[in-house]
Amino acid sequence: MFPLILIAIVTVLIFYRYRKPKHFPPGPPRIPLIGSAPFLTKYPTLYLRVNGLIEEYGKICGFYLGSRSIVILSDLEMIKKVYKTEEASQRPKNAAGSLRFGKPDGSDVKGILFSSGPAWREQRRFALKNLKDFGFGKSSMEEMIQHEALKLCTHLHKTSGQPTQLDSYLNISIVNALWKILVGEELDVENPRHLETINIINKLVRSSGGVNHPLAQIFPPLIKMFPKFFLKDVTDVIKTVRGITTPLLDQHKQSFDQHHLRDFADVHIQAQLDAQPGSSFHGEQGAQNLEINLLDLMIAGSETTSTTITWGILYLLHHPDIQERLHEELDSVVGRDRIPTLQDEAKLPYMSATLHEIQRSSSIVHIGVPHRTDVDIELDSFVIPAGSTIFANIMQVMHNPEVFQDPLIFNPSRFLDESGKFQPNPNVIPFLVGKRICLGSSLAEKELFLFFSLLLQTFSFHPVPGEKLPSYSTKSTVYTSNSIIRFCPHYSLIVKPRNQP
Ligand code: HEM
Repeated sequence: MFPLILIAIVTVLIFYRYRKPKHFPPGPPRIPLIGSAPFLTKYPTLYLRVNGLIEEYGKICGFYLGSRSIVILSDLEMIKKVYKTEEASQRPKNAAGSLRFGKPDGSDVKGILFSSGPAWREQRRFALKNLKDFGFGKSSMEEMIQHEALKLCTHLHKTSGQPTQLDSYLNISIVNALWKILVGEELDVENPRHLETINIINKLVRSSGGVNHPLAQIFPPLIKMFPKFFLKDVTDVIKTVRGITTPLLDQHKQSFDQHHLRDFADVHIQAQLDAQPGSSFHGEQGAQNLEINLLDLMIAGSETTSTTITWGILYLLHHPDIQERLHEELDSVVGRDRIPTLQDEAKLPYMSATLHEIQRSSSIVHIGVPHRTDVDIELDSFVIPAGSTIFANIMQVMHNPEVFQDPLIFNPSRFLDESGKFQPNPNVIPFLVGKRICLGSSLAEKELFLFFSLLLQTFSFHPVPGEKLPSYSTKSTVYTSNSIIRFCPHYSLIVKPRNQP
């Protein structure tokens, strides 16, 4: 009898210990130790899980993975309210942080993308200011992007009339523009070391990494116990990237001249030299922050932009009428004798509306980058407990049928008013909102405009006869992906120069 009573008491205590906190957002049940995992298996991918849950439970829902609470917000006002607070602008700790010079418990991660607290704030502020000074928004930057876009056009001319693919070469152009600002080097695809740099950055972005393994999600301590299994891919890639950046930064230090700061790496080295103890620029951590900043900016800034353009051309292949209207607008405003500039943008409302619609429809960072909250957050009648991981369902906000009529249809005209003027919609939030809003949004918008308008001025794009184009439906492309990036499905196309018959 006594053992039975003991088992009953222990069971009650375990269930009490692992019960959901009061006012936790609605969601699947929580089982001690494993959390809500058994109730999530019906959703095979991250995207389907997020959207299945919000369909079932509403615009705020929560569940547990092991002992970690996860909350998904799908309402713009809620996202704004939470993400404007410093406390909910931390990143979740995980063992992969040790690859970014973090502590084994996942704290003290270096860089910008996955760091938290005062060091994140300091590095972010510095990057924002100095990337601006190095060209974000300056005309030199415009020329640099145009130079890369023209090189892309030269390459595409060579494929004229033949089936080709956009993704790899487009990606190289975008990586190149960024690499030049960061370390002053122009990447040359003929150079094996440069080609390795480009390939490895792509691999890093695309590798979901073992941390997404279902077992690692339920029992994160397993990552620490079996790092070789769970972190192998990411470790290999980061090792290779560091093999490239370390000698490059050594060269920078040797040839450093404080009167002639050449690029982002140089201004960071100068800040390290000026830093006081306690600053994230001081001593060894200053050098570590620079190395991880380079990695983070390349990860966050390359595939995102090129994937958006690849989606954009796919939409145009499906909608030749929209492509024709863009050609007409470009011909009447810019003509064909000079290339489009940022100054033209205000006079190209249909182009602006199309780019806005490409960002809305593609929703490439569909659930954002996860946040963590340090404190309990009250939201309507719910409480998000301190320590929770929070996702913002950008895709849902940008496909909300109450805001966007026929949200699954690609239709740039939804952003034009009666007089044909471009009217951006505040629900289009590809860069998210709040304290951690994308640091490269201004660069990304310039790149999107300059690349897209030059490509459209120079070429017309056509499906390959007899080949089926992949659908752009939101469901078909996310079924198989566990990534936080919605990559565009591969497709072939025919590129025809517009100045030839
Ligand atoms: C179309 C292109 C892009 C999209 C859709 C995009 C979107 C995003 C999103 C959704 C976030 C997460 C914000 C959050 O956690 O609340 C983010 C963060 C970030 N993005 Fe972008 N991004 C793009 C291009 C770029 C570019 C070109 C750069 C820089 C070169 C960049 C640098 C960053 C960085 C450093 C962060 C981390 C900010 C932080 O944690 O404080 N992104 N981006």
